[in-house]
Amino acid sequence: MHPKNIHKDSYNFDFLKESNPELTKFVFLNKYGTNTVDFANPEAVLQLNKAFLKHHYQVKNWDIPKNYLCPPIPGRADYIHYLGDLLSEEKIEDQIKGIDIGVGANAIYPILASRIYNWKMLGTDIEEKSVKAAKSTVNANPNLSGTIEIRHQEDHGSIFKGMIQEGEYYHFSMCNPPFHASEKEANKAALKKLKNLGKNETSKLNFGGQANELWCNGGEALFIKRMIKESILFKSQVGYFTSLVSKKENLPKIYKQLKKLEASYKTIEMSLGNKKTRFIAWKFE
Ligand SMILES: C[S@@+](CC[C@H](N)C(=O)[O-])C[C@H]1O[C@@H](n2cnc3c(N)ncnc32)[C@H](O)[C@@H]1O
Repeated sequence: MHPKNIHKDSYNFDFLKESNPELTKFVFLNKYGTNTVDFANPEAVLQLNKAFLKHHYQVKNWDIPKNYLCPPIPGRADYIHYLGDLLSEEKIEDQIKGIDIGVGANAIYPILASRIYNWKMLGTDIEEKSVKAAKSTVNANPNLSGTIEIRHQEDHGSIFKGMIQEGEYYHFSMCNPPFHASEKEANKAALKKLKNLGKNETSKLNFGGQANELWCNGGEALFIKRMIKESILFKSQVGYFTSLVSKKENLPKIYKQLKKLEASYKTIEMSLGNKKTRFIAWKFE
């Protein structure tokens, strides 16, 4: 994890339970005598997230609609910290402004960006229910309402179009794209994840997530390719375009698209325990 990530050390469950007493019933001692929760239980992860947000980020009122994507906060914070490093190379003196494409119902990236670095954030999403939930979290927390704006992308075929208005400038864009190419692929991945956590449930998705959150035609590779293609139209309104790439095998296709459009780019590697992930950052000089 990034050295500045507050979650890199073991979790202090005493403080977390104090911040969110609802977490208490999910905490138990594992075989090594360490406090933990069952990460395959969405309710336990939800309560852990509420505790993290209250304890570390002073966000007291956070919730998501039932069955929506419940984000692992430590990993989401890593993307923000590595973005912080990238932006520090740019020596920006103004108030930093960013745009999160696909903010989701959880609005996690704008929340972390605003609370960790005081960046102003715009979050967009095609799904009305997610937009409503994200707006309601922002409005329920006075320390977020002045810094985060949420906009509804009504055109499912567009990414920046209709969202970035004339005269606006964002120092960066970020995105956690819908990863899978189909519902079947999303289900397969969820089952694999459960198996890794030592569970053998064979039913539906257990990690939360609605269709729009988890999959789109062509999966993340096509989504990112579309984003790159559209980004050229906004090259003077966004400093650095970035996106997570969860599947390493998608990188060659993405690099090819970037080279074709003569963008300069870099890949920032992140590792969370055994899991390696990365984001790609590009700009047009
Ligand atoms: C994997 S989820 C990410 C949610 C949240 N940012 C997170 O990291 O937990 C992807 C999100 O992208 C949204 N989405 C899909 N196509 C979009 C588009 N063209 N513009 C904006 N959002 C889009 C989906 O509705 C979904 O909420």
